[in-house]
Amino acid sequence: MEFDRSPFCSIICSTIISLIILNPVSFLVYSLDGPVTDIFKHLYFADFYPSTNPRIHHEVKLLGNAKFSDSKGSIQIPDPIRALDLRHQAGRAIFSSPIRLFDPPTQTPASFQTTFSIQFDTTPTPPAPISTSNYSDGSHGGSGLTFIIVPDEVTVGRPGPWLGMLNDACDDDYKAFAVEFDTRRNLEFGDPNDNHVGINLGSILSSTTINASDVGIYLRDGSVHRAWITYDGERKWIDIRLGPDGQAYPSTPIFSAPLDLSPFLKEYMFVGFSASTGNLTQIHNVLSWNFSSTSRAALRFPSTETCETKIFLQATKATEPAHRKPPSSFMIFVAVVVLCLVVLINLYYNGKRRKEKSTLVILPDKKQRPRPPNKPRRFSIAELSSATRCFSEAEVLGSDTGGIFYRGMLHNGCHVAVKRFSTRFLNSTGADRRRILKEIGVISRVRNPNLVPVRGWCCDKRETMVVYDYMSNGSLDRWLFGVGVLPWSRRFKVVKDVAEALSFLHSKKLAHKNVKTSSVFLDVSFRAVLGDFGFILGAPAVSSRDVAQKADVFGFGIVALEIVAGSKNSDEEGEELLDFAWRMHEREEKGKVVDRRMGLVYNPEQAFRVVEIGLLCTMNEGSGRPTMEEVVEMLNMERSIPQLPARRPVALFPYNSATDLCSGYSCAPFR
Ligand SMILES: *[C@@H]1O[C@H](CO)[C@@H](O)[C@H](O)[C@H]1NC(C)=O
Repeated sequence: MEFDRSPFCSIICSTIISLIILNPVSFLVYSLDGPVTDIFKHLYFADFYPSTNPRIHHEVKLLGNAKFSDSKGSIQIPDPIRALDLRHQAGRAIFSSPIRLFDPPTQTPASFQTTFSIQFDTTPTPPAPISTSNYSDGSHGGSGLTFIIVPDEVTVGRPGPWLGMLNDACDDDYKAFAVEFDTRRNLEFGDPNDNHVGINLGSILSSTTINASDVGIYLRDGSVHRAWITYDGERKWIDIRLGPDGQAYPSTPIFSAPLDLSPFLKEYMFVGFSASTGNLTQIHNVLSWNFSSTSRAALRFPSTETCETKIFLQATKATEPAHRKPPSSFMIFVAVVVLCLVVLINLYYNGKRRKEKSTLVILPDKKQRPRPPNKPRRFSIAELSSATRCFSEAEVLGSDTGGIFYRGMLHNGCHVAVKRFSTRFLNSTGADRRRILKEIGVISRVRNPNLVPVRGWCCDKRETMVVYDYMSNGSLDRWLFGVGVLPWSRRFKVVKDVAEALSFLHSKKLAHKNVKTSSVFLDVSFRAVLGDFGFILGAPAVSSRDVAQKADVFGFGIVALEIVAGSKNSDEEGEELLDFAWRMHEREEKGKVVDRRMGLVYNPEQAFRVVEIGLLCTMNEGSGRPTMEEVVEMLNMERSIPQLPARRPVALFPYNSATDLCSGYSCAPFR
């Protein structure tokens, strides 16, 4: 059957024309290359007295436990009157309109400056009796306050060390930036002391901390302090100043360094404050606040190019000069009738087509099936290239012999980490790409809280890439071998998490094949998740899968030792950590393996246990290397650790030749 398209098309065209008459603006195409303009925003609050200044109720939104104090003229978090128990409270005070802080076309953050005065009242009278054991250190003091930039005006963060900044519902896509004024030392979060300023980038773990005592400021001393934060979006530079209120602007900042805020900003963000209390309480007061920002934007003018919609528009104008002002009800009526006609005709022909099984297709027959947003899928090179800004050096997260990791942002705004396998490496291992793809497919279907979710893959031309969820706290090696010191409780949790991840994989008859500290990532809540799978290596046969699992156990042993020792297995020219650990075991001096930077703040029983398990995992396959399931049980104290040989076994055969390729460890001879 032939179908005459022309009447059909003309109906559609006339519908479009009538819609244009109804709403001409929405049909114009805007160009993004218009002249550049600056968008200014300025907020000023000399005080927060709600009685003399009723507008603050509209301009500042209070969330969680917060209030305006009429006696102090301040924002108070928590509210000392409402809260029966001031412990474990969190609140926010946010300027109620969003502010443009990022220019997406140019990826440039706005410049802003803010100053505010704060005072922490450490002697609130607690209305409810609080057991004195909570004050065992003899001091009061809540957790602290932050100046925050957040994506919404509905989230309240967690109390305690989270400072009201983040909560469990905030995933990796929750963009946030904060400068914290922290008065509690939380070893878990690597805090240096109970009087510091920190910079928090999408995470409650500060990327930088500054000792406030160094500039003679004691945040909890009850006096009013003033902070100034200046950010230059063009230069990507931050300056933070801190001093007593009412005195001159400090000439030297307490912190001044380059900082790219673009990964932590959306176009429009909310600014304000958050604070919390934990076991200890204090009232955080914000007494005054001044904020101004400037962001660049290109004016959006209608395009000057001739486009079809414009021709339609001109044609309509020419024929109906009288109808340039608001659409008459007659026009609306015509448009509605025409629309109904289109729908009816469409239904009619669809029905007819189905009956006659005609081959003619006018409208796309198969509708795009909605796909769950997290379902792993194939990506095109173009998509990943734009996500990583053409694989820009600035987006590199890390690299190893297998390839390079890039940070990327997909069109839907999700952050991802893209591993781009090196072609040279792929060729040198003679890897079969079809098999790699199959393995990626298999791994992407398993889900476990201790595995980094695989979002997809790309296999185009000569490129092979895997797309993972982006983990905001980076990889374990950065935390373990970096400047900060990861506390023991955290380390022990990481060992357990990794063991559980591997045990889960092995139970599914899969292997990771690339177990090392740089494959372990830390999520927002600091849970360890295993990623960077070694897809390239190994073969599908059962026997070699078995071998791959044994190599995973060996890799885990090394990782466990590295976590305890805080140093790499083969770092400097000196002795390998594995050799050293064996020697210390022989001499019964396992304490020497433990990272000295932790001082005495660790649990020796747990730490020695991990050392023993680490050594067990690196034993010969035949002579007692445990399975990951057994390792998990040993870590949970559900299984005793078998006696280690008093002396190191003569030869160690850690890897088979295939799995060795991708690891960074030097190996003893192969069997
Ligand atoms: C912070 O500074 C004070 C005074 O300069 C000093 O006594 C203290 O040890 C410092 N704390 C840390 C953790 O560096």
